[in-house]
Amino acid sequence: MKKILVCGAGGFIGGHLVNRLKSEGHWVRGVDLKENEYGNNNSDEFILGDLRDPVVAQKAVKGIDEVYQLAADMGGAGYIFTGDHDADVMNNSALCNLNVLGASQKEGVKKIFYSSSACMYPEYNQMDPDNPKCSEDSAYPAAPDSEYGWEKLFSERLYLSYHRNYGIEVRIARFHNIFGPQGTWNGGKEKAPAAMCRKAAEAEDGTSIEVWGDGKQTRSFLYIDECVEAVMRLMNSDFTGPVNIGSEEMISINDFAQMAIDISGKKLKINNIPGPTGVRGRNSDNKLLFEKLQWAPSLSLIDGMKKTYSWIDSQIQVEVKK
Ligand code: NAD
Ligand code: GDD
Repeated sequence: MKKILVCGAGGFIGGHLVNRLKSEGHWVRGVDLKENEYGNNNSDEFILGDLRDPVVAQKAVKGIDEVYQLAADMGGAGYIFTGDHDADVMNNSALCNLNVLGASQKEGVKKIFYSSSACMYPEYNQMDPDNPKCSEDSAYPAAPDSEYGWEKLFSERLYLSYHRNYGIEVRIARFHNIFGPQGTWNGGKEKAPAAMCRKAAEAEDGTSIEVWGDGKQTRSFLYIDECVEAVMRLMNSDFTGPVNIGSEEMISINDFAQMAIDISGKKLKINNIPGPTGVRGRNSDNKLLFEKLQWAPSLSLIDGMKKTYSWIDSQIQVEVKK
């Protein structure tokens, strides 16, 4: 049994990770600005605190063997591609990383996981929706299309420098659009999977749903259970990373919207409207993941979306009753 800290335990992936670590018999402390809004937090101890404050970071890492650092100011295209939150995203996330890493090194934490993002890949390799390039070795020359991506790249380098200079064991994953139950589904920070489910579930039969852009932009999406499985395998491996954690099942956004519509069982049209779209195409490249972890995700996108739709539909019913 290890003593583990999950930073961002009040969030989507952090909440699921806490549950998984608990199921493996570890003692888990969570820290976040907020409680998990869907009650998805089984940690043994929870610190309601702000990791931008170095004192909170020091308190959080006290007596800890391993840290999972998922705290960040993040959201989907509607949050990170408008430019309106650039200063907050860079400042808030960088401070969390600087403080957690600095405190971990002083406390003698043995190993730390860092959640980077596919958003750090250069925009120039993601112009063709049918052939985006996101292999780990294509990161440089750096040219992420958002400040969110630049902060992730900076922080990857920060963790690697602590590994080189202080010997702290580091594991870095580049997540590619993770989705599933207990993820943000409204309020402006939601990503496309939740947005598509919500729009289809809320629409009246025979009407239409709005989809940003021309719908020809592509993405891949990874179901939360597979993300957590990959994180556990990476932590238990001897590979520092960075490594992609994503799915290779690429789909256009209009086809993805149609998938949500089909799951809803309604007849809905797609209305493409202007909106923040981000890169033109993105897909995970899992060669390195498979080579290093001898593992690849296997759940189909449609199966993950059915589970997600069902959960979001139930959340909408809860809101309606309120
Ligand atoms: P999330 O927003 O649900 O969780 C992040 C949590 O961090 C939130 O609960 C938030 O309150 C907390 N947090 C933010 N600032 C904090 C602070 N100053 N002090 C303490 N807590 C703070 O997001 P998520 O989807 O669970 O993502 C987890 C991590 O994975 C993030 O680092 C994110 O950038 C990264 N990531 C996620 C995806 C994805 O598709 N979900 C993709 C790429 C990378
Ligand atoms: N969120 C959202 N909501 N996206 C929509 C919508 C909508 O109603 N309609 C169409 N889209 C399109 C966006 O314009 C974008 O082109 C695509 O769907 C995917 O959007 P998101 O899922 O919001 O974000 P992303 O894939 O561009 O980036 C996400 O994944 C990264 C990792 O791969 C973000 O969550 C990043 O924070 C994350 O790091």
